[in-house]
Amino acid sequence: MWNERYSAPGYLFGTEPALFLREQRARLAGGGAVLAVADGEGRNSVFLAEQGLTVTAMDASDVAVEKARRLAAERGVADRITHHVADTTAWDWAPDRFDLVVAIFIQFASPAERAPLFEGMKRTLKPGGTLLLHGYRPKQIEYGTGGPPHAENMYDEALLQAHFGELEILRLESYDRDIQEGAGHSGLSALIDLVARK
Ligand SMILES: C[S@@+](CC[C@H](N)C(=O)[O-])C[C@H]1O[C@@H](n2cnc3c(N)ncnc32)[C@H](O)[C@@H]1O
Repeated sequence: MWNERYSAPGYLFGTEPALFLREQRARLAGGGAVLAVADGEGRNSVFLAEQGLTVTAMDASDVAVEKARRLAAERGVADRITHHVADTTAWDWAPDRFDLVVAIFIQFASPAERAPLFEGMKRTLKPGGTLLLHGYRPKQIEYGTGGPPHAENMYDEALLQAHFGELEILRLESYDRDIQEGAGHSGLSALIDLVARK
């Protein structure tokens, strides 16, 4: 399904980073190693590399990863990004490996898939490392401006508290905003951000 969506000309979510990530730019200073989870066509990994980070980017779609490689080369940061075609269920969430984990619009994961995915993301963060998670709330189903049509895949603050409460929560915010991030994410959206330190 994702390969088919990504086979269309252009970049489904654009080539600029998620607005959330741009707004968190101050947390990206200082270098270090970052994991971009389900990074798609590379708009976020390229931005992370441009901030001076060493990026590991993974996504299950080989079509997306090929486009991400091309975007990295065009933007002159290919040497700072290692790309992987990989499924989150088979990913090696090696403990204490990354200074940052960035997970933006990863709501392909059902509740059953989400628990091990979130555990892996926490495990692979170094102590002191930061998680940046951005996604949709259930109200997004009404807006229909992006994301899967599955309310149970969305997040609310209680759910994120339950999964990440043992981290130091630096930001946990629910809000509606008009975003324009390619054809895939376009219009008024019910969003939620989590920034947390291990
Ligand atoms: C909504 S897109 C977001 C892409 C990117 N994070 C962004 O913000 O542009 C969701 C991504 O999840 C990827 N994906 C879906 N299931 C996956 C899985 N099991 N493992 C890894 N990636 C997956 C898709 O290929 C797609 O690129």
